[in-house]
This record gives sequence, C-alpha cells and structure tokens, in this order.
Amino acid sequence: MAFNNRNRNLLSLVHHTERDLHYLLDLSRDLKRAKYSGLDRPVLTGKNIALIFEKASTRTRCAFEVAAHDEGAHVTYIDPTSSQIGHKESMKDTARVLGRMYDAIEYRGASQKTVEELAEYAGVPVFNGLTDEFHPTQMLADVLTMTEHCSKPLTDISFAFVGDGRNNVANSLLLVAAKLGMDVRIGAPPELWPNDDHVSLCEEFAAASGAHITVTDNPFKAVSGVDFIYTDVWVSMGEPVETWSERIEHLLPFQVNKELIAASANPRVKFMHCLPALHNCETEVGAKIAAQYPHLSNGIEVTDDVFESAANIAFEQAENRMHTIKAVLVSALS
Ligand code: CP
Ligand code: NVA
Repeated sequence: MAFNNRNRNLLSLVHHTERDLHYLLDLSRDLKRAKYSGLDRPVLTGKNIALIFEKASTRTRCAFEVAAHDEGAHVTYIDPTSSQIGHKESMKDTARVLGRMYDAIEYRGASQKTVEELAEYAGVPVFNGLTDEFHPTQMLADVLTMTEHCSKPLTDISFAFVGDGRNNVANSLLLVAAKLGMDVRIGAPPELWPNDDHVSLCEEFAAASGAHITVTDNPFKAVSGVDFIYTDVWVSMGEPVETWSERIEHLLPFQVNKELIAASANPRVKFMHCLPALHNCETEVGAKIAAQYPHLSNGIEVTDDVFESAANIAFEQAENRMHTIKAVLVSALS
C-alpha cells in the first residue's frame, strides 16, 4: 500500500485516520515477518534519534533502541537527571537544539502539552513515548497483538479495559478502538471514568467508524462476551503514593481474577496488560502493598493465576512494541 507518512509526528493518534492506522499496522506486520525470516535490511542508515525519558521505562526505551539499531539508525538516550531539560532549559529551547542534530525525537514525560510543544518547535518528527494523557505507541502494539490472537475482522473484535479508566492507556485504547470501529468497554468506578470531553471526542470517531463504546461501573457487564480483557497498574507513574489506598478501595471489584475471566463467558478470551504488572509480591511495590493489604499478595490489578495462565498475551504485546515502533520510525524517516 503506497502511503506517505514521512516526517509525521505521533503525539496522540487523535489526528491519525483509520487508514493511517491500518497502514502502520500493515507495515508492522511486514517488518515483523522480515525480521523473523532474515529478510530485513536497514533503511534508516545514517539517521539519529533522540530518546528523552523523563519517566522510567523498560519496553518503550528498548523497543525504540532495538528498532532503530535494526534499521541502522543511532540513538541517544537522555534520562531524567542528566540533561538540562526543565532545570535550566525550556522545552521550546531544547526542541530547537535537538531538532538541529537529530532526525527524530521520542519523548516520555508527564504533560501532553510538553510533547506537543516539542513537536511544534523541533522541526523533526516527534513520537510520544507516554504522557499522563496518552500512550499512542502502545496502541499499535496492542491492536497488532489482538489481530494476531483473534481470527475476526478488527471491526468484529470486542475488548474491555477494566481498572483506572482515565489513565493514559485507557484513554488511548478508547481512542484507537473508536477510530478502528471496534467494540470497546471501559469498566471502572465512576470517579475513574474517562473525562467527558474525551468520551465525546471518541463518540464522534465511533459515529464515523461504527465502533461501539460502553463506559460502565459494572465489571461483569464490561467483560461479557469480549475477546480480550485488558488492565493496567492502578496507580500510574507520577501519581502520589498515597493514592494507593483509595485506588485499592475503588478498584478491587475490577481486579482481573478467575471470576472476571469466567464472566466473559468466552473460553478463548485473552488477558492483556501493557506491563509492568503487579501480579504477585515479588516486586518492591508489590511487597509493600501486600504487607499492608494481605488479600493482594497474589496480585493487585491481576491475580498471579490469571497472569501465569495460557490466556496471558502481555508478552506478545511487549514484543510487538518493537515491531510497531519500527514501523513508526520507518514510515516517518525512510
Ligand atoms: N508498556 C510500557 O510502556 O512499558 P515501559 O514503561 O517499560 O516502557
Ligand atoms: N498507566 C501506566 C502505564 C505504564 C506503561 C503509567 O503511566 O504508569
């Protein structure tokens, strides 16, 4: 499919059309097959990409680095402490400096406004590697993974996101599903529903694509008959640690456990998570929560038995972060 995405930003997916998204998904599939079959050849030789991470990352950073290296490009990783950004230099000035040295910039941080300002002044494509509002590169990996694990056409696929329904991942899932004509349900307590403006925007996209959007405080209604059940951490990066107690109180009924999986009434249902996941007490955060809330020692947003079951495709999603980010780089820069 001939299509021109050259020099294109990836900030939120709000401005991407259904066709743009299908193009990126098709290219991801092609690049994945090329890598598996040894037929890949570098098309970004000589390109330089800056990776700014003002928040921690495993998958997103590694996906950008491996994708860039596979294509022959070089990267510079800029961590939260070792640059002048914010302390002595504004984002507007940083953008004008990096834009003179790099062919593209990835940015992970708090505010969506910051990544948009970076894109406005850099003069080179900017890719949002997660903000408080959106996580667009994650979406490409998630939809690719869904298509690999369900034989239905995309417009017949249904999925539920249960948990913090107004975080970056939930906002982005609602948006991408609305654009692609999918059946998306957000299961969350009303205080954690996506904000009204975002739901209205997604409803407009849904009216054009034929998508179905449901926002409900009933976790069982959310997952009824779905192909995929998706969750994310209950307290996101940047939120105060004190948030945990109220989140646990509000979100316990939305924990992905055996009962919720059974409530889908779909023996083929798959479990999805963007990762990292708190599914036992083997992490610092998991252990701290388990010490205070012993009933969560076998998992917080997802129980360990579900996470370790054959239904879990979170590691497929993680791999697909690399193939899809490679498609974003190749389409913008090659
Ligand atoms: N899913 C995701 O973005 O993971 P990282 O925070 O490890 O990049
Ligand atoms: N909502 C999570 C996603 C992590 C990939 C966070 O922002 O911490």
